[in-house]
Amino acid sequence: MGITNFKVIGTGSAYPACSKTNDDLATFIDTSDEWISSRTGIKSRHVCTTETISDLAAAAGKAALQNANMEASELDYIICSTIRGDYITPSLACVVQKAIGANCPAFDVNAACSGFLYALDVAAGYFARGRAKKILIIAAEVMTKMVDWQDRATCVLFGDGAGAVILGEGNNLLSIKLTADGNTDFLRIPNISGNSPFSNDVHQDSFTHMQGQDVYKFAVTSMARDLAEVIQEAGLQQSDVDFVLPHQANMRIIDSAKKRLEIPPEKYYTNIETCGNTSCAGVAMLLDELNRKNMFKPGNILALAAFGGGLTTGACVIRW
Ligand code: ACO
Repeated sequence: MGITNFKVIGTGSAYPACSKTNDDLATFIDTSDEWISSRTGIKSRHVCTTETISDLAAAAGKAALQNANMEASELDYIICSTIRGDYITPSLACVVQKAIGANCPAFDVNAACSGFLYALDVAAGYFARGRAKKILIIAAEVMTKMVDWQDRATCVLFGDGAGAVILGEGNNLLSIKLTADGNTDFLRIPNISGNSPFSNDVHQDSFTHMQGQDVYKFAVTSMARDLAEVIQEAGLQQSDVDFVLPHQANMRIIDSAKKRLEIPPEKYYTNIETCGNTSCAGVAMLLDELNRKNMFKPGNILALAAFGGGLTTGACVIRW
């Protein structure tokens, strides 16, 4: 069989140096470790202080290149998944391109927390068209700069980080599914309004607005549905899955999705305890963590799933 998509040939990740526990937050927010841990599973999160999202993304990209034992000059595309780079333009991917010394086309994908899955699907298209031999995908997010630190219902949930993969030619993407359902009510972050003298825009801060319980219901339903569908489309049984890497938004969402599926519960992996919700970066960072622990064996079946702003969802099955 010819090349139809990709295989993962390297992974990387990067975190800000500073980590804050729930107790740290409780010193200046009306909250508690008990409330945050019992409702979300989060114990601590990495937060940017001096680092920028460009720093994290470039560091994750360099780590992935090293892991794949290759040079940046070998890359055919750089795709970054992010809600917000350091600039509206240039894209985060262009900033990374310079930082790592690559010279290929580079662009961003924004599908919120599902962005890593969207980027994988975009990359698969380049391989299918014979346009690429090596693609770097980086999922990076600095959510702590997009929450209102006066709003305890959102600020305690999020963290910062970046995860990266290098894809080479292969046939290891067994199935992938993306969805979008335009909805600005459940989850949105307003853009900057500028100062045009002709505009009637009312200034809004660029903070995360979320109807937590609505997102919760959407998340459980969509994650269970998408995982079941991509596993079936890959011609597998749920019991064939070796690793589930779910979006790291809330441990209770993952636990509820588990109950709706027949994948053994011990196959689910998380980093939410120490990273919080890092949006699209969470699954990519988890992939790197497990890879560096040498947990994946050739032939293992990985199922990835995410959901988020848009509302978007994405899920896929990859053979390691
Ligand atoms: N500490 C203490 N109390 C709090 C806090 C806090 N940090 N935040 C809210 N509360 C209070 C509220 O004020 C409310 O008090 P009240 O009953 O006196 O009015 C009470 O706790 C319950 O608030 P709810 O919002 O109803 O809490 P809920 O049980 O729904 O949990 C949560 C909130 C954790 C956000 C949950 O709804 C959730 O996880 N939703 C899904 C969110 C999600 O998945 N987001 C990510 C998807 S998109 C992305 O990843 C970017």
